Amino acid sequence: MDIAAHKPVLLNECVEGLNIRPEGTYVDGTLGRGGHSEAIAGRLTTGRLIGIDRDLAAIDEAGELLRPLAEKVELVHGNFRDIGSILDGLGIDRVDGMLFDLGVSSPQLDDVGRGFSYRTDAPLDMRMDQTASLTAFDVVNGWDEAELRRIFFEYGEERYSARVASAIAREREKRPVKTTLELVDIIKSAMPASALREKQHPAKRCFQAIRIAVNDELGALREMLDAAMERLSPGGRIAVISFHSLEDRIVKTAIRARENGCTCPPEFPVCVCGFKQTMKSVTRKPVTPGKEELERNPRSRSAKLRIAERI
Ligand SMILES: C[S@@+](CC[C@H](N)C(=O)[O-])C[C@H]1O[C@@H](n2cnc3c(N)ncnc32)[C@H](O)[C@@H]1O
Ligand SMILES: [Zn+2]
Repeated sequence: MDIAAHKPVLLNECVEGLNIRPEGTYVDGTLGRGGHSEAIAGRLTTGRLIGIDRDLAAIDEAGELLRPLAEKVELVHGNFRDIGSILDGLGIDRVDGMLFDLGVSSPQLDDVGRGFSYRTDAPLDMRMDQTASLTAFDVVNGWDEAELRRIFFEYGEERYSARVASAIAREREKRPVKTTLELVDIIKSAMPASALREKQHPAKRCFQAIRIAVNDELGALREMLDAAMERLSPGGRIAVISFHSLEDRIVKTAIRARENGCTCPPEFPVCVCGFKQTMKSVTRKPVTPGKEELERNPRSRSAKLRIAERI
């Protein structure tokens, strides 16, 4: 397997940007195979790192990698949207830094049985957390045609969302759509020949949309941002790497809202809105991978890193 493909995205930028204090408490909310965690924990002396992932396989795999750092690391199987209660459960009030590297991991994509890939046949699953109940099968076979059209359009920015949704609705009348490649065929059948010749795989956008829906990725991101920024200590930083514009917009908006503070009109003599400035941006523009990283790791292509600091 290609080692370079698994190099953590924007690793130096994250570690530098978090301004790690060796005695601080840190959270890696998207442990994955533990690449970022290893670098963060490696900088700690008396500090600790809480690693969270909703995928049990990630907890197991990262546990192996982080074994030499085990004294400083605590791993939790959970959803980062529950960051508040996860920290409560560990008796932690404030943290000095948090990292969230969104999206799917290489091991998830490469594990053919999990159904994330449109290139290999597998049952329609796509759950990041295999203990969760909603699967891609449920979405594809159970959601209304209108709802499918909406997610393909909103989460996939799919131009042919209506045609694809209608093709699925027609096919599943005959028999349930069971596998990834059955779904790929239906998606392709709904697209004009010109779309099939494009560089991007024709099923890429719809697969992304279904994955986002199955895992409620945007809902989890919004809830996490609200809860996470509340738990930072003054000077503590949050770093978020996103992989598509929907995510980046949510991250940007959440930071902006806390950066702007008071929204009262300038002519008001005193503030009546009560909004306080609680965060400031560290990165005014999102940080993107340099040329060298792009060459080494094509998966970093769409990565955008934003960092903000609690004041
Ligand atoms: C891109 S990978 C992280 C890779 C990791 N930074 C590394 O260096 O190996 C994203 C991980 O976040 C996890 N994840 C995604 N959404 C999550 C959520 N809401 N709560 C917890 N984990 C989540 C996925 O299961 C996946 O393992
Ligand atoms: Zn005000």
